[in-house]
Order: sequence, then C-alpha cells, then structure tokens
Amino acid sequence: MPVITCVDDLKRIYKRRTPKMFYDYAESGSWTEQTFRENTSDFDDIYLRQRVAIDMTGRSTKTRMIGQDVSMPVGLAPVGLTGMQCADGEIKAARAAEKFGVPFTLSTLSICSIEDVAENTEKPFWMQVYTLKDDDFMQRLFDRAKAAKCSAAVITVDLQLLGQRHKDIKNGLSAPPKLTVKSVANMMTKVRWGLGMLGTKRRFFGNVIGHAKGVTDGSSLATWTSEAFDQALDWDRIREFRKMWDGPLIIKGIMDPRDALEALNVGADAIIVSNHGGRQLDGALSAIRALPPILDAVGDKIEVHIDSGIRSGQDVLKAMALGAKGTYIGRAFVYGLGAMGEEGVTKALECIHKELDVSMGLCGRTDINALDRDILMVPEDFTGRWA
Ligand code: GLV
Repeated sequence: MPVITCVDDLKRIYKRRTPKMFYDYAESGSWTEQTFRENTSDFDDIYLRQRVAIDMTGRSTKTRMIGQDVSMPVGLAPVGLTGMQCADGEIKAARAAEKFGVPFTLSTLSICSIEDVAENTEKPFWMQVYTLKDDDFMQRLFDRAKAAKCSAAVITVDLQLLGQRHKDIKNGLSAPPKLTVKSVANMMTKVRWGLGMLGTKRRFFGNVIGHAKGVTDGSSLATWTSEAFDQALDWDRIREFRKMWDGPLIIKGIMDPRDALEALNVGADAIIVSNHGGRQLDGALSAIRALPPILDAVGDKIEVHIDSGIRSGQDVLKAMALGAKGTYIGRAFVYGLGAMGEEGVTKALECIHKELDVSMGLCGRTDINALDRDILMVPEDFTGRWA
C-alpha cells in the first residue's frame, strides 16, 4: 500500500479502482470546465503570510457550524450517487464523518436512503434537498429527514436546470450502471469495486425509488428527474420549503450578494457560497472569488459557508481567514471513498486536518475562531472589477 500524505494520493488510487463512468461523474465540470478548474486554481492566487517566533502550542481547529460542534470546519458536501463510487458509500462516508466530528450531508440523489443511513450511524447527519415541483414528495422528504433525526436541511437552489457534463452523456451514466460492452469491459477491471457491489443490495436511488410516484427503476428515474426539478422556482417557493422544515436550514448555491440577501430574508441559518463544484453554470466565477462580496453583504447577519474547490487544509484556512464560518469537501472525500472506503474518507479528513492545523500554526495562529484576513495576502483585484 502506498503511503498516503495528501488528497491527491487518494485521487490516484480512486481513479484506478473505480469504473470510469463514476470517476468521470465526480471529476467533471459542465461544458468547458472553466469554472471547475478555476474553483481550485484561484485558491493559488491567495497567499498565506508566514510569521515566526509566535507561541504555536495549544492549537485548535474546533469550532461550530450552525451552532453544532465540529472538530474542524469541514463538512462532507452532498454528492449524488456516492453509493456507486463504493458499495454502501453514503453509510461509509457518514461513519467516517461522525467519527471525525464533522457533518455529513446526504444527497437527495444518494444510493443509501435516509432511513438506511440513520440506522447505520450514531449521530445526526444533514439532509440535502432538491427543489422539486412535487409538494407531496418534498413534504415527505422533510418529514423523513425529521424522523431520521437529521440536524439540518440543506436546500440546493442552483439546479433548476442541469448543466451539461459531456462525459456523463457519452458514458451513459446511470445507477446501477447499464451493462454495455464498454461498461462491462471497464467494470471487469475494477475487482474490489465489483465485489463490493455484488455484496450489497444498495444499488438504486434509495430516497426516490418507491417514494416518488411512478418511479420504479433507474430508467423511470431519468424521466422523473428531468420533469421533477422546478424550473419555475422562486424565493416564495423557497419560503414554502422553509415552512415544511422547522429545523436548522442551509441554502446552498449562492454566488451573488443579491441572492445572499434573499436567502437571509427567507430565514436560513446559513448559506453556502457554491457553484456546485463547477457542474452547473460554466463561466461563473470561482466560489472563492465570489465569497468576499457576499461576506461584505451579509456576513454579519448569517453564517456564510463555502464549497467548490476545497481540496486541502490550506484552502480551508484561506476561506476561513476571508471570513467563512464553514467549508465543505465533495470530491476530496469521494477520492478517499473510492480509493479505500470508510478508511479512505477518514484519511482525506486526516490529511486536510493536518494541513489546516500546521499551516495555521505557521501563520502564527492557534485558534481557528480567531482568524482574520491579516494572515492572507490577497491580490487587490481578486474579486474583480467587473464592468
Ligand atoms: C448533482 O447534484 C450533480 O451535480 O451531479
């Protein structure tokens, strides 16, 4: 077994061990992938300010996200089809997260169902909810999340329409995978993955099949999703969802200060600055560039979190020093999961935690709650002067 020291190591193993269709699903952005690329590369434009001869003992990355204790401000983002990256993937990732003391967010489009994850974990997780037209389905989803004792709902507001990811179309992405000559030939080379999948019954979209009217298998799901997402979504509709869920609420997919203000008015507890990992509007700004103006607009009135592009503890440190109160990893935990199951997710969290802790110390800081922009060198035009 190679020595794993960073998330990139996990990614290499993940790529070898996972069917191409699911690797491509995770590792794609929409269209030209400009936003997907810049989500990560824009972090490189922000520099950390090294300080020396400052007492670096007693460091702590512990903080709170929406009032809940976390061992570091890094949640697991909702990722569709996680249970196709590795058998029982959502349960494994949720277990790694709870042991590490960070939130796990279950996607509506997960393979393991809400109930299944709840039965197989100890601590409450967070439930991600898509904005669908079907009121019955929405209310039941919130009710199911409540019955499963989920401690927050995360409403994703940036997927009224699906951004096109070329590879998913070319690969004929589906869950379970369609058996074509090409997909079978590829899957036969992924022995660990295949044995895992043969050993589990969890191969369908657990939150949808049998719960949404008329959806009985993977192919009816494709029709359902294209018809079910609400293209007419507006803030009044989001207010209705607010009424369906009386627990902590996070609104995910905010890229503009005006939308951040709307989310604040809906009564959300937090927003996530996110461009869906570069999977929706290609050509949008990276999330880290979008963050400062949103913080300026609402940062003292609501918790502002960020996802899209976080792959390391240094990224987390930069986002937190800019003023975010929480961050999320999606791909970074999927790399670990596909590489080594639960152990791999733990490994990804450990790598990121170490990077965060040591880098914070080298900036002369010991408390994640007391960071500020002084540890950063941010180019003056980082957020852009746009006409
Ligand atoms: C769904 O959320 C996706 O990005 O594939």
